[in-house]
Amino acid sequence: MQPNAAMMAVVLLGNLMLPLASAQNEPKINASTEITLSTNSSIIPVILQCSLTTDHTSHRESFWMKNGQEIPNTRTEQRTTVHRIPKPRADDSGEYLCVYTFDKAPNANATTKVNAKPDITGHKRSENKNEGENATLYCKSVGYPHPIWTWRKVDGTSYKDIDNSTGRFFITKRDNYTELNILNLDIDTDPGTYECNATNEIGNTAETTILRVRSHLAPLWPFLGVLAEIIILVVIIVVYEKRKRPDDIIDGRQIQQTTTRTKTFARGIQNRQFTQMRWLN
Ligand SMILES: *[C@@H]1O[C@H](CO)[C@@H](O)[C@H](O)[C@H]1NC(C)=O
Ligand SMILES: *[C@@H]1O[C@H](CO)[C@@H](O)[C@H](O)[C@H]1NC(C)=O
Ligand SMILES: *[C@@H]1O[C@H](CO)[C@@H](O)[C@H](O)[C@H]1NC(C)=O
Ligand SMILES: *[C@@H]1O[C@H](CO)[C@@H](O)[C@H](O)[C@H]1NC(C)=O
Ligand SMILES: *[C@@H]1O[C@H](CO)[C@@H](O)[C@H](O)[C@H]1NC(C)=O
Ligand SMILES: *[C@@H]1O[C@H](CO)[C@@H](O)[C@H](O)[C@H]1NC(C)=O
Ligand SMILES: *[C@@H]1O[C@H](CO)[C@@H](O)[C@H](O)[C@H]1NC(C)=O
Repeated sequence: MQPNAAMMAVVLLGNLMLPLASAQNEPKINASTEITLSTNSSIIPVILQCSLTTDHTSHRESFWMKNGQEIPNTRTEQRTTVHRIPKPRADDSGEYLCVYTFDKAPNANATTKVNAKPDITGHKRSENKNEGENATLYCKSVGYPHPIWTWRKVDGTSYKDIDNSTGRFFITKRDNYTELNILNLDIDTDPGTYECNATNEIGNTAETTILRVRSHLAPLWPFLGVLAEIIILVVIIVVYEKRKRPDDIIDGRQIQQTTTRTKTFARGIQNRQFTQMRWLN
């Protein structure tokens, strides 16, 4: 870290003045209202600062909050409080609050918005489903202000708006999360690449998910493969048997002829043997 990092810090100071008319002795806090994190990779530490400029009654202490949650170890009794973000990332963006507590008065606070370009921190690379099933694609982001989400289909190098003429596409958008639900998947029109795009004042970013849709029969393919193998084996065996004894199968008459011929031949041998035996005697 540079030695004069603190001096380099981009601290845009503005004033948060409570309306003067409300009460002369309202506490006043001097704080920056907005800071934008650099979109390039050079890391410049960010320093958030609040000073209590009027103090009608003795204050007790102050602490920092981020997105409604107290940041641990930031409590101090000083009138000026500093919160340092040494290596700011999009994840560090959000609404920061310095809160002063008083002995005999309600808390006072000032808001500093830390803005950053959205960054998509979660999405599916691909989704594989069967036709007729539902698909859920999602993206989640960091960055502030919360992005405006859009979904579209990538068609080669160009983009297409999602065609919802069948009414099967449903988009949910929350602050840092979006979901695209496709019901009753169609194998002809739905497969492809879908892109979620997060855009805020600082910049935009996008990620894609490949949706593959398989036929109903897909789960049966391994079974059909085995069945085909069995059929082929049976055919091979039958053909082989046929070639081994062609006479036997061609025609019933031929079988009879063959049998008769064999019988005649056998009788001939018997007769000859009989004659030989007679000679020997
Ligand atoms: C707020 O703080 C900045 C920097 O510390 C200073 O220049 C400015 O005068 C302060 N404003 C008030 C009203 O105190
Ligand atoms: C990155 O930010 C630094 C400081 O703000 C600036 O000097 C530099 O030119 C920026 N670089 C690019 C590529 O924008
Ligand atoms: C900050 O101050 C506003 C009024 O100025 C008050 O409504 C709000 O509750 C305060 N927030 C916290 C966290 O103290
Ligand atoms: C798809 O979603 C719809 C609506 O949420 C639901 O009624 C249906 O049962 C789902 N279909 C499947 C296969 O999960
Ligand atoms: C798609 O159409 C359905 C039914 O008309 C509708 O409820 C849904 O909001 C539409 N979705 C989008 C993304 O326009
Ligand atoms: C998204 O926002 C919700 C509430 O708005 C918060 O609880 C959650 O931590 C946020 N997630 C991210 C990744 O910023
Ligand atoms: C996101 O959408 C905005 C507004 O339509 C567009 O200008 C920008 O190029 C898109 N960003 C990406 C990365 O596609």
